[in-house]
Amino acid sequence: MGNAGQPIDLRSDTVTKPTREMLDAMARADLGDDFFRDDPTVMAFEEEAADLLGLEAAMLVISGTMGNIVSCLAQSSRGESFIVESRAHIQINESGWPSTLAGLTPRPVTGTNGVISPQSLEEAIQDSRSRLGVPSSLLCLENTHNAAGGRVMTPAQIATLAGLAHTNGLRVHLDGARIFNASVALNAPVREFVRDVDTATFCLSKGLSCPLGAVVAGGADVVKEARRWRQVVGGGMRQAGIIAAAGQVALRTMVDRLQQDHENARLLASRLQAAGFDIDVQAVETNILFVKLPEHGFDPHLLHAGLIGRGVVVNPPRGGRVRLVIHRHVSKSDAMTAADLFIEAFHAAQGEDGSPDQRRVADGAAVY
Ligand SMILES: Cc1ncc(COP(=O)(O)O)c(C=O)c1O
Repeated sequence: MGNAGQPIDLRSDTVTKPTREMLDAMARADLGDDFFRDDPTVMAFEEEAADLLGLEAAMLVISGTMGNIVSCLAQSSRGESFIVESRAHIQINESGWPSTLAGLTPRPVTGTNGVISPQSLEEAIQDSRSRLGVPSSLLCLENTHNAAGGRVMTPAQIATLAGLAHTNGLRVHLDGARIFNASVALNAPVREFVRDVDTATFCLSKGLSCPLGAVVAGGADVVKEARRWRQVVGGGMRQAGIIAAAGQVALRTMVDRLQQDHENARLLASRLQAAGFDIDVQAVETNILFVKLPEHGFDPHLLHAGLIGRGVVVNPPRGGRVRLVIHRHVSKSDAMTAADLFIEAFHAAQGEDGSPDQRRVADGAAVY
């Protein structure tokens, strides 16, 4: 449990709840029917988001996934392929919409820390042009890269990859669900991260704490086309100003504080590293870290149940590692407590500390 007597929820930054200021803004929002472009709060929010990103236009959507879907539909056609890092969210965590909805064949390319190399991008483009290949029309990037542990892609890396893609006639979409984490981590304006791409999405509902919502941004023409696709996928909204009002508060009040999440993530990482876990603290650049688990002599299910039983909520370990995500509801002392409880639950899952603790772990498993 955390110091406030509440479970410490490290499953995702999506568990964050709206602030009082957001709820007040939602209650007071001036509303209209957004289908008719009559909602003044949506219009003002979209303009503010576009200005912040330094792009021509922006559009509110329900979720990051919807933002990725409509951005890609607006810039590709069925029967084409898109190049994507092999562990990108679009590739592994979006229920396969590229094939089912967009008729796109993914060309996954394995990167380092979530970033594909210019050489492998070039090779993937060439392969897609062979007589038997599927022509690529799109490159999808992700920043920060979730499955790589919240790693940041620098504006220079984006410029290189986007330049190569553009030279070869591909469009570039950036899944920037956590782009503000990248911007805060490098202390660089967010517009530098989207300067070289054609479309970018960011989420309001993760570290920025909104109840829902995401943004698609880009040139006026492509956002217009994405708006048409948003309608196709059933994402047209009416008095969406209640979402946009929370988004306005998020952009004004929630970005700078992400620094605190990054510091707490590093604190958690360094405590685990000091206890002998295989963690590179320098690689914890933002609010996400993965803890590698031993392959033998250890039960990941017991670790999971033991953590839940101790009031530390995580997703079940997958692929030999467990993901820990820091956010606004995890204080500095919660991060330290979470590290101590993780170490305790880990030893219990190894069966090193005797039967009483094992019983507690088993109880946790039963409750879960
Ligand atoms: C990198 C990344 N992209 C996209 C999404 C999808 O966002 P949403 O859950 O709002 O659909 C997520 C969600 O966790 C994500 O981590």
